Amino acid sequence: MLYCYVPIVFFSLVAWQGLKFYKNYKAAQEIGFPMLASPIDKLNRFWLLTKDFLTPLLRRLPFGLGEFSQRAYMGWNFPDFYKTHARLKSDAFTIVTPGELEVYIADPESAEDILKRAQTDFVKSPALYDILNFLGQNVNTTNGMTWQRHRRITTPPFNERNSAVVWQESLKQTREVLEFWEELGNVRTTTDDSMTLALHVLTAASLGVKYSFRESLTSKPQTTSGYTLTYRDALNTIIRNMGLAILFRMVEKLQIPKAMLPAKMKKMKLALDEFHRYLTQMVKDERVAIATTGNTGLTTDKANLMSVLLRSSDQAKAKANLEATLGEESPTNIAYLSDEEVYGNLFVYNVAGHDTTANTISYAVILLAIYPEWQEWISEEVDKVFSEGVGKDTGQWDYEKSFPKLRKCQAIMFETLRLYSPVVSVPRYTAHSRQTLSVNGKSYDIPPHTNIFVNVAALHTNPGYWGDDALTWRPSRWITKSTSLDEDTVIKAQPPGVFIPWISGPRVCPGKKFAQVEFVAVIAAMMSSWRVGIVREGAETQEQSRIRALQIVQNSKVEFTLKMKKPNGVGLKWIRKSR
Ligand code: HEM
Ligand SMILES: *[C@@H]1O[C@H](CO)[C@@H](O)[C@H](O)[C@H]1NC(C)=O
Repeated sequence: MLYCYVPIVFFSLVAWQGLKFYKNYKAAQEIGFPMLASPIDKLNRFWLLTKDFLTPLLRRLPFGLGEFSQRAYMGWNFPDFYKTHARLKSDAFTIVTPGELEVYIADPESAEDILKRAQTDFVKSPALYDILNFLGQNVNTTNGMTWQRHRRITTPPFNERNSAVVWQESLKQTREVLEFWEELGNVRTTTDDSMTLALHVLTAASLGVKYSFRESLTSKPQTTSGYTLTYRDALNTIIRNMGLAILFRMVEKLQIPKAMLPAKMKKMKLALDEFHRYLTQMVKDERVAIATTGNTGLTTDKANLMSVLLRSSDQAKAKANLEATLGEESPTNIAYLSDEEVYGNLFVYNVAGHDTTANTISYAVILLAIYPEWQEWISEEVDKVFSEGVGKDTGQWDYEKSFPKLRKCQAIMFETLRLYSPVVSVPRYTAHSRQTLSVNGKSYDIPPHTNIFVNVAALHTNPGYWGDDALTWRPSRWITKSTSLDEDTVIKAQPPGVFIPWISGPRVCPGKKFAQVEFVAVIAAMMSSWRVGIVREGAETQEQSRIRALQIVQNSKVEFTLKMKKPNGVGLKWIRKSR
């Protein structure tokens, strides 16, 4: 008579959720921000599994009953931008759910304050970092002392010396990709190829592994060692389907036999397993190389991420040995990482280090093709900076001298990141304590266990700050006349908190300079010798082809980071500049 219990269980579940919702509603009322309601917590497993199917149905419900579903997934802030804030006439609002409270912030000063208080007050939520802990804990998924240890060990390799490597490798990859694109004629793989380019820059600069663009396009997995995917394809499968990867990790805990998994999940398992194996292999090779050639491993550079990680894992072992002999805790100033943490960080730097930059490059390239006037604008600058001697021979371009002068190229990057920021909202958490937060000059009391989102997409498009054309891609808004005599223009400085694609405060992105150097090198090299346009389809006019391309750009969604849903829908044509 078990089925008798079904309605009872169901009723209790609903009542339980209702109770939690009511408790949250009371707490939200106490905070005092405008409120929105959602009957579902967006990290609810059942919802994660069914939302793609249910959302279109919910949206058809009468009286806006399903309206909440527009905000019930990670990354809903694109393309909402500042709209919800404008509608509620507030830089802060709360979403009441049966899970945890969600607060959204678009006041630049509070944003800055939240990000500054990242170490104790507004930390990373355990619910979020638990699902992002692929292969092991890492700098992106930890708080407190553990985070400090990861941060101190993994960030020093990304210094100016490394930037010069990034610059050279970016120029080299760009030369190769453009030769390839010229031959192709109609390039529909701008995004995929940008991913390959950026991955190669990253592996060269952080792992000491160099790839040729061409070879990797045709390369086969190392079947002799039992691989089905290449390193690149394994990593891309994970990044392109991060939602599925997260779901897989949740399902994995249920210990379902592999044979019973749906095909997509099996493929994800394969990608995760093989990626792990590739990393293990790289670590092993590096160790063998270090052992046989003395100090220098494969990565001749002793200060890159790979060698630094290996050194700290060796120190972990030394620490363990020391403790074993001493019978007590050894000094904590030893820079150590466990093997699992080494893999966790290799994973996170591999992902964070190329997915974001690659997508920014591909958005910018397509936008340049849509608005060719900006191509001329950059060209002017590039021609001026490289007028003496080196000219179009990008192999001769010097990092230190030229990078700071390429301000228009930087402006292209900033304007692209403003509208298509890879991270559209930054999640933080009040953990076990209550926090006061000042919003637009008034003080508010934020209860424990509240998720607080810095709404980057809203900050970047607030018409109150950016003006009526806030949603228009207009790179010149970043350039202003210089007050010094030897420079005519400079990048316009923005007040704190209004433009934060890399966030700010102690957890600021350690790859900020890396990404800027790579982007500027790629765009400058492209525009010095090439012009790009959209390939027209059927009988469409130039204007119609631009509108179509812009729609493809706008049709983006957060899949781990912001991405175009159908990037292959735009065909681009590259032509060598005649001059
Ligand atoms: C346009 C390119 C990039 C953008 C827009 C970007 C953006 C961000 C943002 C917003 C965060 C903060 C996330 C959070 O705290 O919730 C972050 C963190 C991070 N980024 Fe980037 N990133 C970019 C490129 C890179 C590159 C090239 C690397 C590596 C070489 C990198 C490595 C990291 C790491 C390791 C963290 C975690 C840092 C910590 O929590 O202490 N990123 N990035
Ligand atoms: C780092 O964590 C944030 C959440 O705080 C997430 O949005 C971002 O995608 C993560 N990056 C990586 C590479 O895991």
